[in-house]
Amino acid sequence: MKDLLLQKFRAAFGGEPTVIARAPGRIEFIGNHTDYNGGTVLGAAIDRGIWVAARAVEGGRAQFVSGHSPAVVEVALDGTLSKQTGDRAWVNYQLGVWAKLPDFALRRPAGFQFADLSDLPSGAGLSSSAAIELATGLALTALAGEHPERVTLVKLGRKAENEFVGVPCGILDQGVSGFGQRDHLVFIDCRGPSFATVPLPADAHFWVFNTHTKHALVDGLYAARHRECMEAAQALGVPLLADATPALLEAKRAVLPELNYKRARHVIEEIGRVAAVRAALAQGELAAVGRLLTASHRSSQTLFENSTAELDFLVDQLAAAPHVHGARLTGGGFGGAVMALTSGVFGAAQAEAVVAAYAARFGAQPAVLHLKTGSGAELVPVG
Ligand code: GLA
Repeated sequence: MKDLLLQKFRAAFGGEPTVIARAPGRIEFIGNHTDYNGGTVLGAAIDRGIWVAARAVEGGRAQFVSGHSPAVVEVALDGTLSKQTGDRAWVNYQLGVWAKLPDFALRRPAGFQFADLSDLPSGAGLSSSAAIELATGLALTALAGEHPERVTLVKLGRKAENEFVGVPCGILDQGVSGFGQRDHLVFIDCRGPSFATVPLPADAHFWVFNTHTKHALVDGLYAARHRECMEAAQALGVPLLADATPALLEAKRAVLPELNYKRARHVIEEIGRVAAVRAALAQGELAAVGRLLTASHRSSQTLFENSTAELDFLVDQLAAAPHVHGARLTGGGFGGAVMALTSGVFGAAQAEAVVAAYAARFGAQPAVLHLKTGSGAELVPVG
């Protein structure tokens, strides 16, 4: 990746970058839509991600190239800076990070040239957006001679996404990309937020089945779920749904519209499942973990209603397949990918059987990835 990235940078800008950074994508292990509700979540950084190279230049402008966009996109870094649209929209993550640096009292380069390269499939629910935000945050702060704490980089990425890109996401994606560790999950208490790593038992394998489907209104649907959860918390008389208990929810059921009740129940029970998964992991009980993962999916399917026929089909197939502990949609939902936790015996032949069943039903092939856990965002020596 690094050599290709350097080639890309030199071809576009005719010189060498002074910083290189990389940040991983993530799997949402369990804790679906709990993050912005002040809850807990477990995720895994994966061994794929986004690499960026940059150098500071004069002239108050940023120039971007990417593996998916060979044409240079140039943006003036002045008072006119605003969200880009159309085929320039991919630079909004990088620009958002640059725009939010002063909010964290961090200096920033007045101008820069920037190249990125990814081996993360986009649209698969593996959070390429957080990966680009974290890698950009590391690179731009390094260019300015700043060395922020990891938690600051994580918050910077989220702020860029919330306020510049305009997606009201929680801290899961950026937290996992920032704090990931090989053979570990990242546990986030999103209220603090606070971050910890949890060892993953040996023989825990991740398979991701990417449907390549995405609801046309996915951003609006995500924002709608966010709003429904906030309304539910208000009706329950708590600041956030993480402050409510199952008993409170049932006691106040009559005051909640049915829709908000279902959303709240998903979130409140999901936070309980995160705690149960943590306990089962500590005992090495992967079968119990798997049952909780599948229960999480069923709750997304029926209560939070952020699943799709394609995702449900994959979970049904995987839950019935040998050597699979459990399976669930991973990420925001409304399309994207299903993640399965399997033993090491599950292999390409078993995955192929699932793909064939899916193809027979939907006439399209999901992409299959056998993923390893990976380390969190880091600066990489240029030389
Ligand atoms: C997306 C968001 C996260 C989180 C998940 C759902 O991935 O970016 O913040 O809300 O959806 O759990």
